[in-house]
Amino acid sequence: MIITVCIGSSCHIKGSKQVVEQLRALVAENCLDHLISLTGAFCMGECMNGVCVKIDDAMFSVQPENVETFFNTEVRSRLVDSEHQARKNK
Ligand code: FES
Repeated sequence: MIITVCIGSSCHIKGSKQVVEQLRALVAENCLDHLISLTGAFCMGECMNGVCVKIDDAMFSVQPENVETFFNTEVRSRLVDSEHQARKNK
């Protein structure tokens, strides 16, 4: 899974640095470094909805105060789904 956080100027003003730091900490705390690549990108063209975060190709609007909720609902659920799918395909 690739999580891309927009670090363009509009998203930066809205807290992209804090979002990156919190995501990095949550990935490390949950020992998910081997499953999640955290990366940055410049403007994703959705400045009104920043901080823009993509999980693979799906776009989300995340604020520093809801990173943990985003992580638990969107990131974890996708990891569980992909693990479930991998088991089914064995
Ligand atoms: S600066 Fe983040 S979408 Fe434009």
